[in-house]
Amino acid sequence: MRSCSIITATLISILSCTTIMAQFNYDESKVPAYELPELLQLNDGTPVKDAAAWNEKRRGEVLELFRSEVYGRRPGRPKALRFEVTKKDEEALGGKARRREVRIHFTSKENGPSMNMLLYLPAKAKGPTPAFLGLNFIGNPTVSNDPGITLRKRDKDSDRGMKTGRWQADMVIDRGYALATIWYGDIEPDDKRNAFSQGIHKVYGPANKIPPDGWGSIAAWGWGLSRALDYFETIDEIDHKRVAVIGHSRLGKTSLWAGAEDERFALVISNDSGCGGAALSRRAFGETVKRINTSFPHWFCDNFNKYNGREADLPVDQHMLIALMAPRPVYVASAVGDRWADPRGEYLSAKHADPVYRLLGTEGLPAQKMPPVDKPSMGRIGYHIRTGNHDVKAFDWKAYLDFADKHLGRP
Ligand code: GCU
Repeated sequence: MRSCSIITATLISILSCTTIMAQFNYDESKVPAYELPELLQLNDGTPVKDAAAWNEKRRGEVLELFRSEVYGRRPGRPKALRFEVTKKDEEALGGKARRREVRIHFTSKENGPSMNMLLYLPAKAKGPTPAFLGLNFIGNPTVSNDPGITLRKRDKDSDRGMKTGRWQADMVIDRGYALATIWYGDIEPDDKRNAFSQGIHKVYGPANKIPPDGWGSIAAWGWGLSRALDYFETIDEIDHKRVAVIGHSRLGKTSLWAGAEDERFALVISNDSGCGGAALSRRAFGETVKRINTSFPHWFCDNFNKYNGREADLPVDQHMLIALMAPRPVYVASAVGDRWADPRGEYLSAKHADPVYRLLGTEGLPAQKMPPVDKPSMGRIGYHIRTGNHDVKAFDWKAYLDFADKHLGRP
């Protein structure tokens, strides 16, 4: 009976989502004519002609515009931050990995807000290894069938391993990388009604005191990723200068913003991140700024609402977010069936970030036009569009690992 009603509720929610999505533009010929804000021009109109002008002036301006108009400003590292190993290393994944669990406390209170990290280290590693770090949607036990992952009160035994395909822990370890993940709800819940009165937002003041450029949930989740990197700086097993931050969908928006805010991330990956992530907002293809601010009012800062239906007024577009990674390697991935995220808009963002990469003396995105399906293009910027739907697949991971080998050095 219960499973019947769950199936019915899921079907209703899929149907209502599909009905909403169907009302949006998916016709390339209906994409409005648009002009992107100048990437290589200071706010006062001065052209940015060399790497120094980008590094010392323009990058800071662009970052500031995203902070004040899109994602909101986040706090720094809390003084009381501390790390507690909650489960010491044990053999896992058939002996090829060591599993560790670490609680990262955001305050000095024993039962204050904290996040729980699951970490797999390659057992054969001879020295510090590069790592992939990403947030997960449903809980740490869902990322692998490994029975040793601690089930917390909210986790269901029956959900163990349900997202194995999305994480490919075996493949990552076989290629010599460490893999770390945290349930994003530990940092704060993804809840439009109560997000800011729980989790990390609560530590920094009451929900009704958040200014128009105050941080939204995407900034909060990205802040959490930086705290995980703080932990890596304290251990010898991981080379904290070779950490790739990865995320899918809303968590792909998060990995991009985390990479922009925290230049310690050596490589940044956006998997199907769409609107408010890699996709150009001005194309109005699939999800729009108004739609995302209506469905998910807690993801961005309040100022972002000014651009509902007025994308042309935005002082930035998402190619400028990709450019904030430069000259660090960045990978943008799309899926053919993920039209809501606007695959072409994701490709164009990557492409329009290319001039900054070239200005800084690196290769940008080699593909001059959108690459064929399932054929990654990899320069210092990587891009692919894969067969299939909104998801993370083995194909995506293989490309990310090849890209990491190319730029971080094969472990
Ligand atoms: C919704 C939302 C997207 C988001 C996605 C997800 O579809 O509209 O912007 O990327 O959820 O995170 O799953």
